[in-house]
Amino acid sequence: MKTVLITGASSGIGEAAAQYFLSRGWRVAATARKPETLGTWSHSENVLPLALDVTNSESVRTAVRDVLQRTGSLDALINNAGVGLAGPLEAIPLSDIEQHFQTNFFGAVRMIQEVVPVFRQQNHGTIVNVSSIVGRFGLPFLSPYCAGKFAMEGLSESLYYELRPFNIKIKLVEPGGIKTKFRQVFAQHSAYEPSLSAVNRRMDLAAAADSKLPGPESVAETIFKAAGDSSEKLRYPIKTQGASILSHVLPVGTWRGMIRKSFGIS
Ligand SMILES: NC(=O)c1ccc[n+]([C@@H]2O[C@H](COP(=O)([O-])OP(=O)(O)OC[C@H]3O[C@@H](n4cnc5c(N)ncnc54)[C@H](OP(=O)(O)O)[C@@H]3O)[C@@H](O)[C@H]2O)c1
Repeated sequence: MKTVLITGASSGIGEAAAQYFLSRGWRVAATARKPETLGTWSHSENVLPLALDVTNSESVRTAVRDVLQRTGSLDALINNAGVGLAGPLEAIPLSDIEQHFQTNFFGAVRMIQEVVPVFRQQNHGTIVNVSSIVGRFGLPFLSPYCAGKFAMEGLSESLYYELRPFNIKIKLVEPGGIKTKFRQVFAQHSAYEPSLSAVNRRMDLAAAADSKLPGPESVAETIFKAAGDSSEKLRYPIKTQGASILSHVLPVGTWRGMIRKSFGIS
């Protein structure tokens, strides 16, 4: 039986991924800051519920050690835990941006540093980093979040070469908007009105419960495919390939005009 460790399995994409792996016969180390918040699916005998805060090195070390003690091996790591942070950069305290990076970027780094020695000794293992379409291009008032996802993309692209000799695969899953409880926390600043409200409103609308956004199950399926894909494919866009390609092939002025228009900003 293969074992996967998933960060942020208490809700959204992480929870859907945990259930998906479980349904496909994997053993799941389902981790959450508060393991008591994991759903009833975590009562299955093939689930190892564990406390893990990705911003805390000791917590990361303990969780990985516990998994190995209980299972003897680890086949895949899913770096899913993430939070949102948005608004005009000048209005966001530096400490908030540092904290954001502690979760969205250094959290994944901590996890990778802990599992790579294990994967190296096993001579196999797959790391799936949950990035975003905004890891490929920037959007207005999302500078900290985009920067964190860009960082994750660069990290993964570089690690591909570094980990290849050890048969360790690295994958990037890039969803667009997905219906979960995920929200961007928006800092406010009057100098940026009315653009800021327009973008805020656009994102709130997109995230509203009655929106047409796909649920996290589609991402879970892609994460599962990526974790089991022995090819060298790095990126797994989820209905975002079109936007990603356009952002790279359109003249920059055309692309920027499209983004400004779709967010209703000048
Ligand atoms: N929803 C989207 O539209 C979308 C699109 C593209 C990419 N993504 C990415 O997908 C990932 C999952 O997001 P989601 O949409 O499923 O949102 P979500 O439902 O809010 O889930 C986020 C998860 O991260 C966990 N988390 C936050 N801080 C943590 C920490 N310090 N240590 C461990 N876990 C922590 C949360 O656990 P707690 O219960 O402890 O808070 C929660 O389980 C994120 O990386 C996000 O950037 C989401």
